Amino acid sequence: MAQVRLSQVRKMYGATMAVHGVDLVIEDGELVVFLGPSGCGKSTTLRMIAGLEAISSGSVEIGTRDVTKLEPKDRNIAMVFQNYALYPHKTIRENLAFGLRMRKMSAPEINQRVNSAAEMLGLTPLLGRKPGQLSGGQMQRVALGRALVREPEVFLLDEPLSNLDAKLRVKMREEIARLQKKVGTSMVYVTHDQVEAMTLADRIVIMQSGHVQQVGAPLEVYDRPANLFVAGFIGSPEMNLIDGRAEGGKFRFNDLSLSLPQGVRADGTPLTFGIRPEHITIGDGPNSQIFRVGVVEQLGAQTLCVGDVGGCQVRVMMDRTDTVSSGTEMTVSFPPQRIHIFAAETGERLGDHTGSEEAEPPRTSKRALETSEEETR
Ligand SMILES: Nc1ncnc2c1ncn2[C@@H]1O[C@H](COP(=O)(O)OP(=O)(O)O)[C@@H](O)[C@H]1O
Ligand SMILES: [Mg+2]
Repeated sequence: MAQVRLSQVRKMYGATMAVHGVDLVIEDGELVVFLGPSGCGKSTTLRMIAGLEAISSGSVEIGTRDVTKLEPKDRNIAMVFQNYALYPHKTIRENLAFGLRMRKMSAPEINQRVNSAAEMLGLTPLLGRKPGQLSGGQMQRVALGRALVREPEVFLLDEPLSNLDAKLRVKMREEIARLQKKVGTSMVYVTHDQVEAMTLADRIVIMQSGHVQQVGAPLEVYDRPANLFVAGFIGSPEMNLIDGRAEGGKFRFNDLSLSLPQGVRADGTPLTFGIRPEHITIGDGPNSQIFRVGVVEQLGAQTLCVGDVGGCQVRVMMDRTDTVSSGTEMTVSFPPQRIHIFAAETGERLGDHTGSEEAEPPRTSKRALETSEEETR
């Protein structure tokens, strides 16, 4: 177990900078998720920690060692990828033991580690089988087991669940979270899936175009997105974002005129107003407006309505209702403590309000996750 420290880590591919100076400390035992759209530099950053990509400038430390120039095999990390490559002709026991044999570990030590990992992952009854006799989820577990038996200082997982169907993904992510808490080893987990990130992470690192946009606990980034990119990326359905301007202490666009949260002083400047669909309330209240429903999406427990408020398209998430349909009009309110304001030009968040009803957002607990595999020898 160890802390991982990235200092001004950069990656150039030819003249193109894929990762722009990342500074980050992953605490001992922490589960950190790199989250962002495809191509934002998540895998490149992870592979620089692993030693699979050379670092163009900056440094990586694991524990007290500067590993910047070390080979992957000398970094004491274990990686799990989307495509787990199990040896098809070897049993599960042999697949789990193979990396340790390569390292010339003694047979009793190998047996002890393999048995203990199999026990933790529920693989004990399957140790005599071949990979072809396992389900996708079981193979992912073997891949995770291969990382586990290494007893590394850090686990590095790159989109390990992408090959699984939605239901199994949820189950495996719970397992990964549980396993990580149990063994207490620091983990960096890469995903483009914000739900996976929210449910799994101690802290999320949100990236875009090779830049870190925000680092924070799941509810911190949900309650206080640092900029427009994070506001739009975290949360499903997406936050409503409306471009307008500040005038006389109000936010204005078309027929809309809404109170700005305390601490936002931006007269005359172009602003983007944000509120999450689940934070718009039905009925009279602060900033009340008429909402004309256009499209109704029944989600089961909840109803998502897309419609018009003062000439702007807005999504409103409400408790399940069977009585709204296209054309329904109702009063909705925009609670000031739920409003997010961004400078339209820079995208930066304005004001010091939290966007949350909690004075102090609780630390989130996590759940786990799943994976594919494997090892960096
Ligand atoms: N070997 C490579 N050569 C050139 N460009 C690369 C290489 N690997 C990745 N890139 C570029 O670096 C950027 C980041 O890629 P990557 O880290 O794989 O993104 P992510 O994992 O977030 O989807 C992308 O623009 C990608 O095209
Ligand atoms: Mg990737």
